[in-house]
This record gives sequence, structure tokens and C-alpha cells, in this order.
Amino acid sequence: MKIYRVATIPGDGIGKEVIPAGQQVLEALATSENAFRFEFENFDWGGDYYREHGVMMPANGLEALLTKDAILFGSAGDPHIPDHVTLWGLRLKICQGLDQYANVRPTRILPGIDAPLKRCAAEDLNWVIVRENTEGEYSGVGGRMHQGHPIEVATDLSLMTRVGVERIQRYAFRLAQSRPRKLLTVITKSNAQRHAMVMWDEIAAEIAQEFPDVRWEKELVDAATARMVNRPASLDTIVATNLHADILSDLAAALAGSMGIAPTGNINPERMYPSMFEPIHGSAFDIMGKGIANPVGTFWSVVMLLEHLGEMEAAARVMQAIEDVTANPALHTADLGGTATTAMVTEAVCTQIAASAKAQLTVA
Ligand code: IPM
Ligand code: MG
Repeated sequence: MKIYRVATIPGDGIGKEVIPAGQQVLEALATSENAFRFEFENFDWGGDYYREHGVMMPANGLEALLTKDAILFGSAGDPHIPDHVTLWGLRLKICQGLDQYANVRPTRILPGIDAPLKRCAAEDLNWVIVRENTEGEYSGVGGRMHQGHPIEVATDLSLMTRVGVERIQRYAFRLAQSRPRKLLTVITKSNAQRHAMVMWDEIAAEIAQEFPDVRWEKELVDAATARMVNRPASLDTIVATNLHADILSDLAAALAGSMGIAPTGNINPERMYPSMFEPIHGSAFDIMGKGIANPVGTFWSVVMLLEHLGEMEAAARVMQAIEDVTANPALHTADLGGTATTAMVTEAVCTQIAASAKAQLTVA
């Protein structure tokens, strides 16, 4: 029997509620499949760890992750620690340290979800945003000087490398090629940013030559926001820089009905390092500890994790279970206007997984 080693890092806030729920779903799946199982190791890194040790994760933390097949991550963020400390000390450290340069964010309107775009049919919104995940506006290059003086100055440099841009564009073209519409929109801002973004556009055009069957176009990031709202069906696969995609993916999640549903994968496509899967909603302190966080973003991230492991059928079964559950408004959490708890939704998804395994056995 195959054994997959999975690291769980709940992190902060509702991460501590949704990651155990995700683990529960993976365990229910393994029990029902009887073809593989998971060996979990939990890491208690995050805000509490910081209060005790002065760092978000230990110095040899990355090493402990190297032997894993995948990582399931909750969120990093603590009301008593500056956001740039929690982010750089944990999530970015892992994404950059394990060279997870492709951040993949699928968005669809799942059954039963009341999304805000009233003129759009559910099937009109089916996007995957590919976010450059290791450089650009998040390069961390910059500085501050003359602090506290009137002449204070600060810079955040957006740094793009040819290798970094080529590899994310190639990943996006390949992903677009694998989807039925074979359509890629390259988000840019080369009208105003006349150096790195111009190189970004040029490299997109070069990589496009390798994919003659993919239709592609450029779109300015500001125009893209309007287009996502007005003509959602005109988009399919989207590639953007770190910050542009960060912003567009929140818009995408909101247009699909809730931040609580949206998943993401931080992927190292060459598989030199483990990839990391997480809901995009963040730590959500306003609802932490109440047991009402929506675990669907984590469950969809679990689907992406399974796909990454090559367990396509199992992934499809979990996705179907999720969709069966979202279709029932009685199983909607507060973010979707419902009253269901995290535990209720988790239980319902696990039950669906068990039921679909039984149905499979009967057919066989
Ligand atoms: C995301 C998040 C993070 C980001 C935050 C928590 C810093 O918004 O994954 O989109 O901006 O990268
Ligand atoms: Mg974001």
C-alpha cells in the first residue's frame, strides 16, 4: 500500500480549525479507498511558536519538510505580531525556500452557492489564476532609512528575473493547454511600468511560440478587474505577477461567492521540493475559536493536493463530495449566509466520501 507523508501546518487563527478538518477528510478518503494511506506530521509553527521562541518556525524547519510528499497549510497572521513578520517568517519562507514558484488558484461557482454576479451563469465563471510566487513585488528587496526624520525614505523593489518570468509563463501556457478552451490571458501593466513589465510581456510572447495551439492575449490589470465582473466567460487561464494575482484572486474568490471556498496550491513543478496546499482565506480572527469557519477552502485544497500526488480519481471523488455538500444550503457556514458549523460540513463531506466508495464497490 502506498504511503503519502503529509506535513500539516495549521498556523494561526482558523487555520487551527480547518486543517484538522482537512486531515479528517484525507483520513476518511484513505479508509474508503484502501489503496493508499497518509502519514501525517503536525508542525505547531506560527504566532504561538513566535511568542515562545521569537521566530515563526525553527531554523531547520525547511529541512523537516523536505522528506514530505506534500504540505497542508492553514494560515499565518496574529493580531499581536506585525503582519510582515508572520508572513515572511513562515509562509513566504516556505514558498521561497522550497521554490514553490507557481501559485495556482482555481475559481468556480460551486453548486448551491449564491454568487454576486447576477447576470452570469455558474458555468461562465471557470478560471485558474497562476500567480508568480517567489519574486516580483514580493522579492523583499528594499529598505528604509532616516527613520523618524522628515527626510525618511523607503523602497520596495519589484524584482523580476528572466528565469523567474520564463518558468511561470511556461507553467501557465502548459496549464492553459491542458484545459478545454486553451486560452491564456497574460495580465500586465506595461503601459505604466516600463521596465520589468515590458520584459514580462516580451517573455510571454517568446514562450507563446512553444504553444502554437494556445490562444493568448495581454490584458492590463486594471481592465482585467472590470472584465472579470462584466465578461467572466471571456477568461479561462490567467497568469499574473505576485501582487497582481494576489489582488485578482481575492476578487475572483468573492465573485465565486466566498473567500471561504477558494483553494490554492504553491507548486514546485519540477518536484525537487514538496508543494504546499492551503485555503486562501487567511487567519480570520473575527471568527476564530467559534467552530464556524468554512472548511471548504481547505477541502478543495486537499483535492489539489491529491491531484498533485497523481491520485486523480480520489481527487475527483472528494471534489464531488464537496459539491454535493455545497448544493445543500443547510450545510452552508456563516460566510455563505448559513448556520452550519465546521464540524457539520466536515462530517457531511466525509459521509459523502464513504457513500461514493460504497457505490463504486457496488458497480464493480
Ligand atoms: C494570499 C494572502 C497572502 C499574500 C497574505 C496573507 C500576505 O493574501 O495568499 O493571497 O498576499 O500572499
Ligand atoms: Mg491574497
